[in-house]
Amino acid sequence: MSYRTVLNETSYFGPGAIAELSSEVKKRGLKKVMLVTDKDLIKFKVATRVMKVLDDASISYEVFDKIKANPTIQNVQDGVKACKKMKADCLIAVGGGSAIDTSKAIAVIMTNPEHADVRSLEGAVQTAKKCLPILAVSTTSGTAAEVTINYVITDEEKHRKFVCVDPHDIPVVAVIDPEMSASMPKGLCAATGMDALTHAIEGYITKGAWELTDMLHLKAIEIISRALRSSVAGDPQGRSEMALGQYVAGMGFSNVGLGIVHSMAHPLSALYDTPHGVACATILPTVLEYNAESTGEKYREIARAMGVQGVDDMTQEEYRRAAIDAVKQLSRDVEIPQKVSLVGVKEEDIPFLAESAMADACTGGNPKDPTVEDVIALYKSMM
Ligand SMILES: NC(=O)c1ccc[n+]([C@@H]2O[C@H](COP(=O)([O-])OP(=O)(O)OC[C@H]3O[C@@H](n4cnc5c(N)ncnc54)[C@H](O)[C@@H]3O)[C@@H](O)[C@H]2O)c1
Ligand SMILES: [Fe+2]
Repeated sequence: MSYRTVLNETSYFGPGAIAELSSEVKKRGLKKVMLVTDKDLIKFKVATRVMKVLDDASISYEVFDKIKANPTIQNVQDGVKACKKMKADCLIAVGGGSAIDTSKAIAVIMTNPEHADVRSLEGAVQTAKKCLPILAVSTTSGTAAEVTINYVITDEEKHRKFVCVDPHDIPVVAVIDPEMSASMPKGLCAATGMDALTHAIEGYITKGAWELTDMLHLKAIEIISRALRSSVAGDPQGRSEMALGQYVAGMGFSNVGLGIVHSMAHPLSALYDTPHGVACATILPTVLEYNAESTGEKYREIARAMGVQGVDDMTQEEYRRAAIDAVKQLSRDVEIPQKVSLVGVKEEDIPFLAESAMADACTGGNPKDPTVEDVIALYKSMM
């Protein structure tokens, strides 16, 4: 049995780290950048900071600003067209998971045109060639898309979101510059932060977890539990810690997988356009209760990493309850909706949502094998 680990070639951390982009582009011999972002990030003067770095270094670039949250197949195909027209030889993604994921799909199709339909990239696909080089600058603190080998695309026709897993899509350079996420409004900060906590916890209890990823996930749980409240309150130190914590979670889960919190969250975004982090955060405590019996001692370590005192003296029932309660408390403190009905779920959609969740690439990693009836019951319990 061997374990595979795929990470960025180079990552930069800290305030002002975006300045490193120019030398990275130059030393890699890249000539034309496609800068992938959205209109709001230009309006709020977030993406413009990266443009200034490129302007100052006389690096040639063109902007593709048509990214939308929960990106679609059409967004990707429009991006591929734009990339060809620009004759870009690399992409700089500036944004959250949506901009980075769309960049991955574009960059993969540019070098593997047989996947131009996008749908054929679903699941664990071993594409023939590495994607065009991506330099990813995250502006949210949650998805860790800058370090993962995954991307998530919405199929509007089939009302589903699908996960693509491919080591060829990983950004060569990741830039985690907390000044780029400083402008996140409170709600986005809370939702993306809870997405990061979900990655850390699901990654820690997933079937493929092992010692190296356990180390990363426990550290991420510790950082996120310590920093998320102050980050949401706007404290720069909290924002900075969250930028790191979400990346550490990404180093782990990208290499071992997740579980059914993600499988159950994806259909909510596909059907109701629910922000990914909100969907994950709302579902997390309920699935933690469902999974508890299949996690051995792990909830004790989750509780410990979340700052719960006295976990060594607790019974199994007590430490499991303590871990779930700590997650619930954090979720309430950052004002996450506590029911899926509050994020748009309708009773009559539940069978479709459950079928969609069962077909999701994350389901196989869940510590407990769910049936479709289990998933229906879980959604219903959160109405
Ligand atoms: N690739 C992965 O491994 C992975 C993991 C988890 C989630 N995802 C995917 O990522 C997407 C969600 O990404 P996200 O949660 O980062 O949000 P996002 O990228 O969808 O961005 C949401 C909104 O926030 C705005 N925004 C982003 N940064 C901002 C800033 N600094 N200041 C002000 N506004 C800002 C954007 O303009 C956008 O309107 C989903 O599609 C999800 O499925 C991918
Ligand atoms: Fe996520």
